[in-house]
Parts: sequence; structure tokens; C-alpha cells
Amino acid sequence: MHDLNDAEYVLTTTRSVRKRLDFDRAVERHTVEECLDIALQAPNGSNLNTWRWVIVDDRELIARIAELYTLAMNDFVALLGDATGENYMGAHIPGFESINDSVDYLRENMARVPMVAFPLMAGRTEGANSFYQASCWGSVLQSVWSFFLALRTRGLGSAWTTASLWREQEFAELLGIPFERYTQAGLFPIAYTRGTDFRKAWRAPVGEVLGWNRFPD
Ligand SMILES: Cc1cc2nc3c(=O)[nH]c(=O)nc-3n(C[C@H](O)[C@H](O)[C@H](O)COP(=O)(O)O)c2cc1C
Repeated sequence: MHDLNDAEYVLTTTRSVRKRLDFDRAVERHTVEECLDIALQAPNGSNLNTWRWVIVDDRELIARIAELYTLAMNDFVALLGDATGENYMGAHIPGFESINDSVDYLRENMARVPMVAFPLMAGRTEGANSFYQASCWGSVLQSVWSFFLALRTRGLGSAWTTASLWREQEFAELLGIPFERYTQAGLFPIAYTRGTDFRKAWRAPVGEVLGWNRFPD
């Protein structure tokens, strides 16, 4: 039996959910605000709290977001080439085909999601050194993952997506985000999940990714 109060269980089974998002069940704003309240306990540089979040639950805006997301995915696919071919960078990852299938499903159904979140990082990092880049990204991304975990403990889920950034400026215009001062961390659908039993995913093992005292061979 799974226990959503067990930290290790939640940490290892919080997935990018696409096919099991429940589009028919409404999501209450106060539940999402509760999750964000938890997420904002994540560390952020100098505790400046420069992060901002736009969460959309307006149906017309979500329809427009879905259109833009499709355009952005098309840009992404055009750049990558044939994502079904064996030369594609992810072609040898276990579960690759089902991930592709699921990515398509989300693109096709984005207009049906109850809510969409846009976490925003203060500043723009184009051309900046790694200190600046790491400090900026590090001041928003932890909160996003905490948000996922808080959603999970309440029977909700999301999918981490960055494809939207191919059209970042258009999303900024749509949502009144000052593009010169804020960078979007991605686009995160929010919905209740159909069932709450999720499994551990395949990952490269510790032995492959860890090096003690030097870079792993
Ligand atoms: C940085 C990042 C960007 C991603 N971008 C997209 C995306 O644009 N569209 C999408 O459907 N999934 C996207 N994903 C989800 C991954 O494809 C997903 O993590 C992968 O399917 C593995 O699923 P799991 O994390 O549940 O194991 C992204 C994930 C990450 C971490």
C-alpha cells in the first residue's frame, strides 16, 4: 500500500504525469495556493524571494496557451529532427517510445488541463557567467520541485515541460510577464491524477553517475 506521507516514497514516485492527468476534475485555487506556500520554503539566493508565479485557470487563456505550446513543440521537433529515429539523442533510453507517446498526448490535450503554472525567475541569464546563471536558476527550480511534491501528497500532479520556451516571448505577452526582467522556468500543467499509485522510474544507476574523489570514468 502506498503512503503519501512517506517522504522516500513520494520522492521516488513523483513523476511527470501526462496521460493520467484528470481533465474532468476541477482543481481548487486554495489547494494550489497551499502547495505553493510549501514550495516557497525552498532555498533561494539571499532569501530575496524574487521568484514570481503566474497560475492560469481561465479557460480562454488555457486554450491560447495550448495553441502556443503546440507551436513551441513544433519548433522543438523541427530543431531535433526525427524524434522517432534511432539517431535521436534519447532513442536508447528505456521507455523512450512511451515517453514520446506521452509527450504527444500532453500536447494534444493541453487545452483540457484545469490549470497551468508558470514559475518565473528574476533576471535573464543570456551571456551571464555560471555563478550568475546558477544563482538565478537555483533561486527558482527547487521551489518548482517542492511544488510537484506538495501536489503529489494531495493527489495532484504535473509534468515538467520546457518546450514552451521556444515561444517564451509570446507566452510573456499573453500573460503580461515583463520579458526583459523575468525568465520562465517552464510550463507546468496542474490536475488531479487518475489514481495516486506511481512507480519508480528508470534512471542511470549511482555507480554510473557518481565519482568519489574524481570525475566518474
Ligand atoms: C528540464 C526538463 C524539461 C522537460 N521538457 C518537457 C517538455 O517540454 N514536454 C514534455 O512533455 N515533457 C518534458 N519533460 C518531462 C520529461 O520528458 C520526463 O521527465 C521524462 O518523461 C521522465 O519522466 P519521469 O520524470 O516521470 O521519470 C521535461 C523534463 C525536464 C526535467
